[in-house]
Amino acid sequence: MTLYRGTFLDTPDDPFTGGRLRTEQDGALLVRDGVIRARGSYADLHRQHPQEDVVDLSGGFVLPGFVDTHVHFPQVRVIGGLGLPLLDWLDQCALPEEARLADPTYAAGVATDFVRGLVGAGTTTALVFGSHFAPAVDTVFAEAARVGLRITSGLVVSDRLIRDDLLTDPERAREESLALAARWHGVGRARYAVTPRFSLSCTDDLLAACADVLGAVPGAMFTSHVNENTREIEVVEELCGCDYVTSYDRHGLVGPRSVLAHNVHPTDPELTLLAARGASVAHCASSNAALGSGLFPLARHRAHGVHVAMGSDVGAGTGFSLLKEGLAAYVAQQQLGEAGHPLTPTHLLHLATRAGAEALGLRAAVGDFGEGRRFDAQWIKPAADTPLDVGLTHAADPADALAKMFALGTPADVRSVWIEGELVEAPDSHLVG
Ligand code: GUN
Ligand code: ZN
Repeated sequence: MTLYRGTFLDTPDDPFTGGRLRTEQDGALLVRDGVIRARGSYADLHRQHPQEDVVDLSGGFVLPGFVDTHVHFPQVRVIGGLGLPLLDWLDQCALPEEARLADPTYAAGVATDFVRGLVGAGTTTALVFGSHFAPAVDTVFAEAARVGLRITSGLVVSDRLIRDDLLTDPERAREESLALAARWHGVGRARYAVTPRFSLSCTDDLLAACADVLGAVPGAMFTSHVNENTREIEVVEELCGCDYVTSYDRHGLVGPRSVLAHNVHPTDPELTLLAARGASVAHCASSNAALGSGLFPLARHRAHGVHVAMGSDVGAGTGFSLLKEGLAAYVAQQQLGEAGHPLTPTHLLHLATRAGAEALGLRAAVGDFGEGRRFDAQWIKPAADTPLDVGLTHAADPADALAKMFALGTPADVRSVWIEGELVEAPDSHLVG
């Protein structure tokens, strides 16, 4: 067993319904076989378990590993393609790169960059939009397994309106998806996600094939995009003859294991439907800003009872850090003025951890430091005299320190990361590459 000593912050109770930031100052977590067995003050736990190894994380703060509920593996090398709205950005920036993953050697390099980017940002669990090429999806599952990252991913499918070399057909989609699920779903920390790109690029026959796969793989998730950009929404309504959420729902694809990304422009009936189905929405704030998609109506999601978590949406999103996403989410709500939902740092931490675990059906496993959870954690410990170090040194209280982490923190401040009690990112690894 190992005793981790430090100041632990987490959000087991939903701050949107009154939950508060939980703080364990000079606290300890007792971890055996990757699971938190006890928590309390360091003095108490050390007295009770004097023989156990102590990992001293004093100085800085220990947060639960982040849960990124929407991130694109093939797009890591095109982060930063600014200045285009969604459909132009897809054509000119994202999809040409995605086509390069037809080469499995290229895909393997991208998978390495991608997994390193996630872990380096303190993310320990992710719902990963895969590739249109099955061998490339194998490479991301394999790299995540090698590093220990907890991912849910799958084959991305489309059969219309995007470049030809990314298109499939319903039969091939069904076969390749089932074969990938057979290889990866439930193997180690991996799970399968049925992943039509968006209903704009998927015929009803293809969405029906997706529903077949979802039905054939118990515990699989469903993920796609919804209501991101006004032009995109017009095209979907024209093609499908219904609203965007219904384009998936009429195939039985919207349920408690579904995560739909963006939802910047939903109608009230769509929000009602999402809530009734128990589906989750991945809020991707930096992407919404970068592509000019609009400001996320968080208050309307809350009012309808739609579960919301956070996604980086790399590569339209501008980086892997959910600290940056948190800040962008906060800013978007400020910009909405009266219609915005004020967000505290406690809300941001909850969105980046606990809410994500719930969206991904991992409520019992990860998302906070309660007893019985896996020890998925990140140690935020900035270098001496950096602005974040100064901020944390002079923070009034833990909530203020957390605000400073969201305002100033970057992956360079994530000193160490553990997944299920295994150290995956050693101190100073950013410096040694
Ligand atoms: N809609 C369909 N594909 C994508 C994508 O790759 N990124 C974003 N942001 N939206 C999409
Ligand atoms: Zn996306």
